Amino acid sequence: MKVLVTGGAGYIGSVTVARLLEKGYKVIVFDNLERGHKEAIDKKASFIEGDLRNRDSILSAIKNTRPDAVIHFAAYALVGESMLNPAMYFQNNVNGGINLLEAMDKYNVKRLVFSSSCATYGDPGKKFISEETPQLPTNPYGESKLVFEKIAMWFMQRKELHAVFLRYFNACGAAAGRGEDHEPETHLIPLVIKTALKQMPYVKIMGNNYPTPDGTCVRDYIHIDDLASAHILALSTAHKGPFNLGIGRGYSVKEIIGAAEKVVGTKIPYKITERRPGDPPHLVAANKKAIKLLGWKPRYTDIEKIIKTAWQWHKDHPSGYGG
Ligand code: UFG
Repeated sequence: MKVLVTGGAGYIGSVTVARLLEKGYKVIVFDNLERGHKEAIDKKASFIEGDLRNRDSILSAIKNTRPDAVIHFAAYALVGESMLNPAMYFQNNVNGGINLLEAMDKYNVKRLVFSSSCATYGDPGKKFISEETPQLPTNPYGESKLVFEKIAMWFMQRKELHAVFLRYFNACGAAAGRGEDHEPETHLIPLVIKTALKQMPYVKIMGNNYPTPDGTCVRDYIHIDDLASAHILALSTAHKGPFNLGIGRGYSVKEIIGAAEKVVGTKIPYKITERRPGDPPHLVAANKKAIKLLGWKPRYTDIEKIIKTAWQWHKDHPSGYGG
């Protein structure tokens, strides 16, 4: 099976590409390298440097490679940035996505696995979020992912497209020699690790007056190798539509810092700062559907084990892919 992976140079995409190749899939990576890293692309994959916002670029990539399926990761994915610049989120995540769907339609590519997000649910105020929880995003990033899901649903209505929407909770950890390297970094776990490595003086806890047990936001942290395995299962499932990918357990910002202190063996300093606009207080997955219907088994259910993989990668790559 030949799979075209948009965003295959990115954090989750590059690990999925490596795992696909190990399983014998042929892989074509389509990436503009704006936020991904060329070094992260497995050498056994073919690489097309292209941008989804350029309609001709994705049309010719699909025409020339004729994949059996597409896994679509390429997107902007920062909640805070999307609040400041909604247009860039809709341009890339929605318009770029339409160009991809159009190209797939034109060249008869019938199978899509889409990198969606729990950010599509917004702030449902539920202990566990299921796939039936109403989707009411609280930021443009989540809205852009939801709009793409809805557009893809119309392509599915014609019964020609088989699409699976994988709604990830908080991707983290390192696998297959690849890890998290964003510029600037805004994600909690790499920032905690950078503080432990003394690359930053302290972690900013953005808000400690949320309606959660310790006042800091709660998230469901899911390891990227478990995300990669879900994508591979989704490529051949008979089921369609949304699947939540999380471990089904939440950790607060303070708990993450505490778990990281155990992994690294030192205290990690932090300061309480203002809330970050757009952050929901509590997002934890009900993950039974993916386990039952995709046959997915998340292997990393222990937060310290997850953080350990990230810690090891950052120690080995103190300047990320650049060093
Ligand atoms: N946080 C801090 N300090 C920081 C960074 C983050 O307190 O320096 C807090 C945030 O307020 C949030 C939590 O840590 O409560 C996690 O923040 P991240 O930035 O690591 O992740 P987000 O939950 O904001 O967003 C991530 C991805 C999105 C995805 C979302 C799903 O960036 O693409 O998870 O929850 F949609």
